[in-house]
Amino acid sequence: MCSIIGYKGRQSAAPIIVDSLKRMEYRGYDSVGVAMIKDGSLMVRKGTGKVAEVNQNLGISDMSGLIGIGHTRWATHGGVTDSNAHPHSACKNNIAVVHNGIIENYKELKEELIAQGHVFSSETDSEVIAHLLEIHHGSDVKKTVIQTCKRLRGSYAFVAAFQDGTIAGARYEEPLIIGVGNDGYFVSSDVLGFLQHTDKAIFLDNCDIAVIDNTKMEIFDFDGVPVARPITQVAWELGEADKGKYAQYTLKEINDQRLTIANAARQDKSAMAKFCEILGNAKSVYITGSGTSYHSALIFKQILARFAKVRAETVMSSEAQDGLAAIDSDSVVIAISQSGETADVLAAIKTARAQGAKVLAIVNVTTSSLARSSDCFLSTNCGPEIGVAATKSFTGQLALAYAVTDRLAGGALKAGEQAEFVAAAEKVISMCQPAIEKMAGELSDVNDIYLLGRSAHYPIALEGALKLKELAYVHAEGVAAGELKHGPLALMEKNTLVVMLSPDDATHSDSISNAHEIKARGATVIGISDAKDEIYDHFIEIPHMEQEAFYPIVEVIPLQMLAYYLALAKNADPDYPRNLAKSVTVK
Ligand code: F6R
Repeated sequence: MCSIIGYKGRQSAAPIIVDSLKRMEYRGYDSVGVAMIKDGSLMVRKGTGKVAEVNQNLGISDMSGLIGIGHTRWATHGGVTDSNAHPHSACKNNIAVVHNGIIENYKELKEELIAQGHVFSSETDSEVIAHLLEIHHGSDVKKTVIQTCKRLRGSYAFVAAFQDGTIAGARYEEPLIIGVGNDGYFVSSDVLGFLQHTDKAIFLDNCDIAVIDNTKMEIFDFDGVPVARPITQVAWELGEADKGKYAQYTLKEINDQRLTIANAARQDKSAMAKFCEILGNAKSVYITGSGTSYHSALIFKQILARFAKVRAETVMSSEAQDGLAAIDSDSVVIAISQSGETADVLAAIKTARAQGAKVLAIVNVTTSSLARSSDCFLSTNCGPEIGVAATKSFTGQLALAYAVTDRLAGGALKAGEQAEFVAAAEKVISMCQPAIEKMAGELSDVNDIYLLGRSAHYPIALEGALKLKELAYVHAEGVAAGELKHGPLALMEKNTLVVMLSPDDATHSDSISNAHEIKARGATVIGISDAKDEIYDHFIEIPHMEQEAFYPIVEVIPLQMLAYYLALAKNADPDYPRNLAKSVTVK
């Protein structure tokens, strides 16, 4: 969702803030703004568009001063307009605030503030924070922020810059991290916001307030009691977030899978042992996640049952209220998340914890709220994933699911870092790229695609459909091929486009029969398989797998590529799909 950054130090703040916002732009990219404090006055520049564009138009990085705050927005309340862009200030124009989250009681607060004579200049929920700060503003910034927080309901991380040069941040259910630099402090929603300057981070807890004045940085709880939070050294590799030789992050991250799948399969032995011990002792197991991470949960469930004889329930995190209704203290929840900050996932584990369940996590961002609040976590080890569509994190999650299952199944899967799928995934990238690029060019007019698969290929059909929707804006539906005759076959007619996932495994012959049924209705069929068949109009060849359970991690890669190249063919920006954001930190 939105990203926030504050800086107070000895360097010129505006270029630092603009650079941070560019690095965090994947979190939200509909508008940008910066507020600077200089010589006791506040200056704000903000507008709609991407960081580079707004910076060029408004000259943000030319703003002078050593203290500033910045924001990229993903609209929740109020349209994408200049006035709704953050920072917001109140009537006296002496405090500016940037916010990530949702203020649930903003309507009543706004009415109350308007009745007191306050004038609002945006439609956002966030602006109430600026007015509340103004009302409570006194000589003690800590008290000002505490009194403001006490009025807010919902979820928030905000950073405020005061005319006297003090910066303060507060956190409730949204991440906020302090970067401790050699010559200044950063306050950010993501370590990527400051990792280019310092690897020393302080992760604020819920209900923490940080105040940075001219002499020091102090942290308090919402009662004003000073609290000590440790300084953590964050791995520098997390900051390696550039595109390298690739035109887009998405293309880079698809190609990164040549290495990242092996990295995910290579796990810290003690963390793996602890994870499997907790899992193995559970009486009931639930696996939860959202979007792409939920699709890997579906595959994890299948292989756990098949190879380790562990029965697990999958629960979409946004439906956890019902899905986790029967959870108890003998249960374990495995939460899967690239970011570790998805609001629905965090809410699901809160529900699980309230019933006494243990929480295991599979995450990519090891400094995330999910990782830090779990009983044990395993890392997908993929490095930063910046493209909004999940690619390498998904295959990392699958590699980990195979590795965990393998350990519980006494090595039956052979899923370590030398696993068969590591080489196959590397091979499939080079094998498929030219054919898929060409095919995407030919299919640029397509508006509907059906993806069919049985068994483990069904979650991949869902995942492929999700990639096509978000990257190429194509209506795409993943269908369990066995369900075709129970309804979806009615949609098959001349020129309907169908992708059939039909590797040479136990599902193959039934899938080929389905392909015949579809073809008989005039549809066009793209086959993704290691076994060529004359029924396909187009064929994407994937490597043969001795262990058929590994086909999903390999066959998803051509689908990621198809979505990417179709996005280009349709002139869409694959890195920044419309209306989406990388970390969905609001419900
Ligand atoms: C799809 C996609 C989203 C995420 C979902 C969960 O390409 O990226 O569906 O998978 O928002 O995000 P994480 O895994 O960060 O919890």
